[in-house]
Amino acid sequence: MTLSFPDGFLWGSATAAYQVEGAVGEGGRGRSIWDTFSHTPGKTVHGDTGDIACDQFHRLDEDLDLMSELRLKAYRFSVAWPRIQPDGRGRANREGIDYYRRLVAGLHRRSIIPCLTLYHWDLPQALQDEGGWTSRDVVPRFADYAALLYEALGDQVPLWITLNEPWVSAWQGYGSGAHAPGIEDDAAALAATHHLLLAHAAAVEAFRGVEMGNGRIGITLNLTPALPADNNSSDSAAARIVDGNQNRLFLDPLFHARYPEDMLEVYASVSDFAFVKDGDLGRISADLDFLGINYYQRHHVTAGTEIAGRARVVPPEGITTAMGWRIDPEGLTALLKRVDDEHTKIPLYVTENGAAFDDYVDPGGRVDDRERVEFLDAHFRAAHSAIAQGVNLNGYFVWSLLDNFEWALGYSKRFGIVYVDYPTQKRIPKQSARWYSEVIAVNALPDG
Ligand code: FCB
Repeated sequence: MTLSFPDGFLWGSATAAYQVEGAVGEGGRGRSIWDTFSHTPGKTVHGDTGDIACDQFHRLDEDLDLMSELRLKAYRFSVAWPRIQPDGRGRANREGIDYYRRLVAGLHRRSIIPCLTLYHWDLPQALQDEGGWTSRDVVPRFADYAALLYEALGDQVPLWITLNEPWVSAWQGYGSGAHAPGIEDDAAALAATHHLLLAHAAAVEAFRGVEMGNGRIGITLNLTPALPADNNSSDSAAARIVDGNQNRLFLDPLFHARYPEDMLEVYASVSDFAFVKDGDLGRISADLDFLGINYYQRHHVTAGTEIAGRARVVPPEGITTAMGWRIDPEGLTALLKRVDDEHTKIPLYVTENGAAFDDYVDPGGRVDDRERVEFLDAHFRAAHSAIAQGVNLNGYFVWSLLDNFEWALGYSKRFGIVYVDYPTQKRIPKQSARWYSEVIAVNALPDG
């Protein structure tokens, strides 16, 4: 049966500044925590850095043409904060603004809708030196930075996302230390969680205070549902902890103006949550225009000590992606339903979904990534099923347009629908890009 999507469904693809731009020392850009982290020995696979990445900074027109060729309806990109404010404060760096103006104008020229993420993890190093997200002082800094972009691009960008995946910023950046700035301290991760949410709120307040044309603003959360590994009460309790940390720690303050009771209790020995001041939760729960959801997998959880001293994620068995992630399209339907049932009725977007596989260019010059086609097909069907059940899903952004710098895993993992041969920077659309382009053209999935 052919599955049609609603008229105007926004099919897009996503990237992030540090993962694709390169040109880190150009255009007046300052240093970010990812420059520092990736240049610290031992932090990334093979010591890979984003210095060159996909060189999109120099290959903008080529990449825009590629998007157009693939018939993308929308492109989700992020602005590098240190291109706009090299030291995280003060007036805008003209060259930085110009670069994103060129990007946005180039999208409009090709009838592609720009979706701009203000923060996809590249905090100016100067602000990290003052405590980064553990310090409440970062909140007005972020609002100022956002205001510079509203001023420069307010009437040009219809979709604004304040933060990408604050869970990752807080818990990988300050909790496990796997990401920049590489701090390992749950108390710091909790403070960072709150200050990220408050910075989001301050950026939304600034947005509401200016004339933004038809612009709408939201936030992107990575929601990772947690299932008990076995049907017993200790696994259920452990899954509830992981769900609390990954999902409710963000959904509850944003949509219900509270932190989850069980999380206050679980982290009581680590933090008294004194960083939450009167009025904060009212600000954090102010109305949004949409919610972005990044979905990759569900966790299966058992009792253990790895997470909050009480839970452990059980590694998947069977076929996984090259990240070792479980392939679980039904999880997407369930997640979208849950958000709609329990948290909010505002429009939803899948702002990231995709997979890494061991792609290669064959002797004919093709990249036959049939695993990714299968993966996307199954997840699009899962999204369709949620829509059929009444979920207000408005669009879907495949991660990623290009193979790129996959954070601590460097260039070892390929998520693109377009293959990047890094030494030559040649772009080779994979089979999945051709397939996706057909889906977009008919706004439907073929028989299957
Ligand atoms: C998400 C990130 C994105 C990319 C994908 C694979 O957590 O937002 O930048 O790394 O995972």
